[in-house]
Amino acid sequence: MNGYHVITDVLTGEARLALATPALVYSECVLIESAARLSDICANSNVALLYSLKALCQSHAVGALAPSLAGFSVCSPFEARFANEKCEANLPLHITTPHFDAASFCEILSEGDYVTFNSIMQFRQNASQIAQEASIGLRVNPALSLVSDQRYDPCRQHSKLGVSIDELLLNWKQLQADGTTITGIHFHTNCEGRDFGQLLRTVTHIDERCGHLLDKVNWINLGGGYLFAPEDSFTAFYAAVSLLQNHHNLSVFIEPGTAFVREAGYLVSTVVDRFSRDGKEIAVLDTTVNHMPEVFEFQFEPDVLGSHEDGKHRYILAGCSCLAGDLFGEYGFDAPLSIGDRVVFANVGDYTTTKWHYFNGINLPSIYMLTEDGELVLVKEFTYEEFAERNGVSSNVVI
Ligand SMILES: Cc1ncc(COP(=O)(O)O)c(C=O)c1O
Repeated sequence: MNGYHVITDVLTGEARLALATPALVYSECVLIESAARLSDICANSNVALLYSLKALCQSHAVGALAPSLAGFSVCSPFEARFANEKCEANLPLHITTPHFDAASFCEILSEGDYVTFNSIMQFRQNASQIAQEASIGLRVNPALSLVSDQRYDPCRQHSKLGVSIDELLLNWKQLQADGTTITGIHFHTNCEGRDFGQLLRTVTHIDERCGHLLDKVNWINLGGGYLFAPEDSFTAFYAAVSLLQNHHNLSVFIEPGTAFVREAGYLVSTVVDRFSRDGKEIAVLDTTVNHMPEVFEFQFEPDVLGSHEDGKHRYILAGCSCLAGDLFGEYGFDAPLSIGDRVVFANVGDYTTTKWHYFNGINLPSIYMLTEDGELVLVKEFTYEEFAERNGVSSNVVI
């Protein structure tokens, strides 16, 4: 079943009436389809597939992905606990973070987990403590920039992410002599990547600079940052993987986030106000960039169902917070928008719930799962009490 059609049916049919907005609706079919697609690519290349929880940390959604996974990529003790306790899958954890909180992680780690240290200092401070439990890796920063926006470029100048290849070469012998064996290498260098030629170039660069060290470890994690869209060419992906497997006998992991969940998420909103301003029509929605912070951070215009470039009825879709720049962009529709109409943002399943916030005290959207059977299930509704608690009101005190 195609998730797009199901969601369109739900939004135009009877079920739309039961859907209070703003609402973030996940399509279970799309989640399962994405996981199956990634899983096939990995099966074809003997790569182990991890899911990076930072993109969407929501137990029902992760539960739909879990059967296709070989583990979870996590970057904090909360994410690690969540993966262990809430995801109904006893899968290994792969941890990479600029702040390794050893005391908290040690309580969570179990045999079979993986920890990748972000710096030589972090390795020296923590590796011996956890070497009994976890397989130890180092994050390498190949310093090959692939992302034009520096804020999202792990290879930017003065990057805090990973050990440079020079640093790795300089320290390798001493690190091994310190007594903790480094069994893996990790890198993550892209964001929304579509061109696996970039991955192949990165792998070739690492191979040329420190191939002899790749012979000394057992595994390599290629990170996330690629969309793995069905129309993309995977030739260079397979070439990069086989270089690592055949020349260095490495087990290969990938840990995408966006590729699993972006297309599964729809934010459903309602038009709450309409007026003209300086020659343009404004439609104010009951959602805001609070609910999709990446729209504001990246200044991109999210997809809106039913809108297109030639749509004669054009509106600036505005969020309902007090921020002047709380705007989604200008969109064209075939029919005019009226108060009460639905406006549905598509492809917003990634980095939405994990980044959204309560600016202006505007409540968060309710989360729904559209199940494989076409049932719309309310998964989470946020309450005033949760808002008050976050803001210092103890739950047993009446205000
Ligand atoms: C280390 C690491 N791995 C994986 C990911 C997931 O990336 P994406 O969601 O772009 O696939 C990220 C994203 O920031 C990351 O920092």
